[in-house]
Amino acid sequence: MRVLVIGSGGREHALCWALAASPLLGTLFCAPGNPGIAEIATCVPIGATDIAALVDFARAHAIDLVLPGPEAPLALGVTDAMTAAGIPCCGPSAAAARLESSKSFTKALCAEADLPTAAWEICATAEQARAAVARRGAPVVVKADGLAAGKGVVVAATTAEALAAIETIMTDRALGEAGATVVIEECLVGKEISFFALCDGAHALPLGAARDHKRVGDGDTGPNTGGMGAFSPVPEMTDALEAEIMTRIIRPALAAMAARGTPFRGILFAGLMLTDAGPKLIEFNVRFGDPECQVLLARLKSDLLPALLAACEGELGHFDLRWHDHAAIAVVLAARGYPEAPERGSAIGGLDEVAALADVRVFHAGTARDPAGRLVAAGGRVLNVCATGADLGHARARAYAAVGRIDWPEGFCRRDIGGAG
Ligand code: AMP
Ligand code: GLY
Repeated sequence: MRVLVIGSGGREHALCWALAASPLLGTLFCAPGNPGIAEIATCVPIGATDIAALVDFARAHAIDLVLPGPEAPLALGVTDAMTAAGIPCCGPSAAAARLESSKSFTKALCAEADLPTAAWEICATAEQARAAVARRGAPVVVKADGLAAGKGVVVAATTAEALAAIETIMTDRALGEAGATVVIEECLVGKEISFFALCDGAHALPLGAARDHKRVGDGDTGPNTGGMGAFSPVPEMTDALEAEIMTRIIRPALAAMAARGTPFRGILFAGLMLTDAGPKLIEFNVRFGDPECQVLLARLKSDLLPALLAACEGELGHFDLRWHDHAAIAVVLAARGYPEAPERGSAIGGLDEVAALADVRVFHAGTARDPAGRLVAAGGRVLNVCATGADLGHARARAYAAVGRIDWPEGFCRRDIGGAG
C-alpha cells in the first residue's frame, strides 16, 4: 500500500513510525515531513494546508490511504477533497471537523445527545457574556468560540478576571473572529484526561487515554503550550471508566453526528474532566493529540494500518486492537524562549547515541537541516524523547536518561513529566 501522512510534527513522526512497521506498507510519503520523518518516509514539499496540491500528489502517486495529522487540513476539507477524488482519507469531513473548530457546535451536540459536560451559555455580545458571568459567579470559564491555537480559554478564579477575558476576547478581538462569540461555562473540578477513539462513522474503537502537561514550567507553572509531555496509561483509567466514556460520550456523539448527516470518521479526541459526578466532556478534537499520539502508539501492539483502513471503510464493527501492558512517556524538548519566542538555528547532537538505547525513541517535532546538513532547531517544540517501561517510573527514568545524552544546550524540558500532576 502507498500511504500519505500529512503534517510535520512529532505526532506525524510517530504515525510514520507506526505505519512503517506494517507488513502491508509499500511506500510511505509525508507532506511536508521533517528530518526525522525523512529517515523512514519520502518527504514531499507540500504544505499541510495546500489541499489542492495534496490531492494532485495523491492522485499522481496512486495513494491508497491518506492520514492527516493536524486539524487545519481537516477543517479545510482535505477529507472531502480526497474522497471526491476517490482516495480513502482517515479523517472527518469539514462538516464533522466542526467538533473541534466550533465550541458552540459541540455544545449544541452535547444538548442534542445528552452528553455530560459543563453547564454553558453561548453569548453573541460582550453584554450577554458579562451578564452570564454575573449570574454564574466565580470560578467560571470564558472560551472563544472558534479555533484560537490554545489561547482561547480562560479559567477565571474571580469575576474580575472573567470580565477582563471578555474584554480581551470580544471587545478587543485579541484572537480575531474566533472571539466573535464566547461560551461562558461552569468550572469543572477533577483530574483531566485525554481519551481517544478511532471512528468509522457508526462504530468506535477505544484507543486509550493519556495525560498531557500543558504548562511550560515544572509544577504546572507558566504559560500554556501545545503540550510539554504526556504519558499513558493514566492511573485513574479502568475498564469500567472506559466503558462509561464509550457509552455516555463517544457512542452518543457518533450517533448524533450520523443523525445530522455528518458522520464522524477518523480519530476523536475527548478532553475529559473526571468529576465526582463522573466523566464530563471539556472539548472534542478531531485528530490525535501531540504528544499524546506518541505515547498511545508506543503501547499499540496491533498493526495501525488495517485499523485506519477499516475506519475509512466503515468496518470497525468487526475490528479489535491489542495493547501492550507497559507504560509510555514522551518528554518534549523545546527551544529556549518557547512558547513566546523560541530561538531557532542551534545545533542538536547526540541523537545517534540515543537511538542505540533500548526502549527509547526520539521523534522530531521542529527540526531542520542547515546548509551543511547539521540538525538544527526550527520550531518551538523540537524533539520528543519517548520511552517505554514496565511501569511509569521505569519509562520516566529511561526517558530522562536519554534526555541527558542529547547535546543541545539551547533546549529545555520539564523535569516532572509523568509526575503526580
Ligand atoms: P481547551 O482549549 O478547551 O482544551 O481548554 C484548555 C484547558 O482549560 C483545558 O485543558 C482545561 O484544563 C481547562 N478547561 C476548559 N474548560 C474547563 C471547564 N469547564 N472547567 C475547568 N477547566 C476547564
Ligand atoms: N496536546 C494537546 C493537543 O494536541 O491538542
